Amino acid sequence: MRGSYAKRAISVWMELTVMCPKLVIAKTAADAAIAAARLFRETALKEVSRKGFFAAAISGGETPRQMHRLLAEPLHLDSIPWKSVHIFWVDERYVPRDDPASNYGAALEDFIEKVPIPKGNVHPIPVCLEPARAAIAYEESLSGFFSERGYAEPAFDLIFLGLGSDGHTASLFPESVSDEKKSAKVESVLGGSPKVFRITLTIPLINKAARVAFLVTGKAKSDIVSRIMSGGSGLPAARVAPETGELFWLLDKGAASALDMG
Ligand code: 6PG
Repeated sequence: MRGSYAKRAISVWMELTVMCPKLVIAKTAADAAIAAARLFRETALKEVSRKGFFAAAISGGETPRQMHRLLAEPLHLDSIPWKSVHIFWVDERYVPRDDPASNYGAALEDFIEKVPIPKGNVHPIPVCLEPARAAIAYEESLSGFFSERGYAEPAFDLIFLGLGSDGHTASLFPESVSDEKKSAKVESVLGGSPKVFRITLTIPLINKAARVAFLVTGKAKSDIVSRIMSGGSGLPAARVAPETGELFWLLDKGAASALDMG
């Protein structure tokens, strides 16, 4: 099993990166998850050997869960330098940890409880304060984490984003698009499905990352993927444009089916 999975993961990755290093179109959602897990692993190895730690921010929702589960599989479990990996969240629903809607709760179940990551390296968004204060607290914890490591401002090594059919990403919704001129790196919003308060990284902070990867699967998202990638929509996800970092689109064939590949 382990050998065949490893061979599959390598062949999927080789096949995919031949096409276009930043646009990866996988045959299936499972293959897209393999590509995403591989990006996580390769970036972790590279950053830990380069600077001694790897700081990643993960999204919630259903799409990333397959990738998260792969991180606890032997291929990644045994090769990712978990002791030097730090996990943050792109956003969180303002619900208790054991609520099915909790992004932290899902990630805990999918991989965090199954990998040897030190407890202090897991940085959930607080949901014990009222929303606006939770946003301030998370922004302060991000600033503290990165300034202790010599950064002038928070800049993740890798951020995984999802994409909603309405063009939202993180918890930045069209109806509640934040005023980017604000200096806030983390903010609280009311929206989404379930419609609850959420704490979210903002576009300016996301765009400081060294790598941002959208992981999107399913034909139902093909139109919004095409709209966002064409850049013209003005929707929150279209504002993701890393200032100096790389932008990856990890798609399956369904999500890529409306792209003009001419
Ligand atoms: C969240 C996510 C959100 C998600 C999209 C896509 O907390 O809900 O951060 O931005 O990525 O809504 O969700 P699915 O993967 O479930 O389609």
